[in-house]
Amino acid sequence: MENHPDPLQRLEEIRTKALAEAQTVQGEAELSQWRVVHLGRSSPLMQIFSQLPQFPKEMRPAIGQRANQIKQSLEAALVELNQTLKEAALRHSLEADRLDITLPGRRPAPGRLHPSTQILREITRIFAEMGFQVYNSPDVETDEYNFELLNMPAYHPARDMWDTFYTTKPGVILRTHTSPGQVRVMRERSPEPIRVILPGMCYRYEPVSARSEMQFNQVEGLAVGRHITFGDLKGTLTDFARRMFGKDVRIRLRPSYFPFTEPSAELDIECFVCGGVGCPVCKGSGWLEILGCGMVHPVVLQNGGYDPEVYSGYAFGMGPERTAMLRYRIEDIRYFWENDVRFLEQF
Ligand code: DAH
Repeated sequence: MENHPDPLQRLEEIRTKALAEAQTVQGEAELSQWRVVHLGRSSPLMQIFSQLPQFPKEMRPAIGQRANQIKQSLEAALVELNQTLKEAALRHSLEADRLDITLPGRRPAPGRLHPSTQILREITRIFAEMGFQVYNSPDVETDEYNFELLNMPAYHPARDMWDTFYTTKPGVILRTHTSPGQVRVMRERSPEPIRVILPGMCYRYEPVSARSEMQFNQVEGLAVGRHITFGDLKGTLTDFARRMFGKDVRIRLRPSYFPFTEPSAELDIECFVCGGVGCPVCKGSGWLEILGCGMVHPVVLQNGGYDPEVYSGYAFGMGPERTAMLRYRIEDIRYFWENDVRFLEQF
């Protein structure tokens, strides 16, 4: 732009140029550039203000007044442009980040209970309905509670029934069954009557195969009182089997041996897969082995602080994984602790 000698003329040029350039501004960076060029300290307009004293005195009011008007209109243009740019930016981001609220939501994948936990809860619920309390005893046990107090002194041949994980601390082992909890409850409750179940993980030093794991759950049951009979045991277990496996299920008790019960028995239920006819699940026998049980041995009662001349009791122990395997036809016990979701999400 040529510098017009007439300051008023020059002011009009400044105004026209600034407003024309304002039309082409795009984006905030260009706008702040525009502000520096046209309203900044060394802009032509500001130079007019600083040159004011050099103009002839009678011209100064008119120049000053017009310069102020132009300054105000440029400032107004700036505000307006700023607003327009902000709106455009907002419109753009609304457009770009648009949410499609008609899209169906993404379903969270809900976790679910491990099959062992499901069965454990079911067993617990059934016994709770029959008046049993839940008692927890430790996974890390002593040889004394796991064997000795259960009528298996050192070198007792029946110890062979349980392959044991020993620790570096003499006498400290991982429990091989939940039965040691029996003596712990008795010692805590004596001489009160007892009706408890003891659920928990057990550990055995065994090669892992489709049929046996080195860890698995058991649920122990114990009732102690003045007049408890084998009939009570049979009645309780029959009731349990019906609630767990169906109201028409038949059971049978087979004589067996455990050092901590006398007499001892094993409970079979009629195979719920074939109804007792014989199938691969029951290996043709028509029966499924569910648990071990018996009348608490006098020595064990004694060890628990109950006089066997006055008190009697029954006990039983079952494996929830085994029950789950039968119920859901799981063919390999190793699936339980492999934590493969393809297995777990089926339950
Ligand atoms: N503790 C036994 C086992 O692990 C199971 C058992 C049998 C528990 C008879 C009992 C019982 O309470 O009376 O093989």
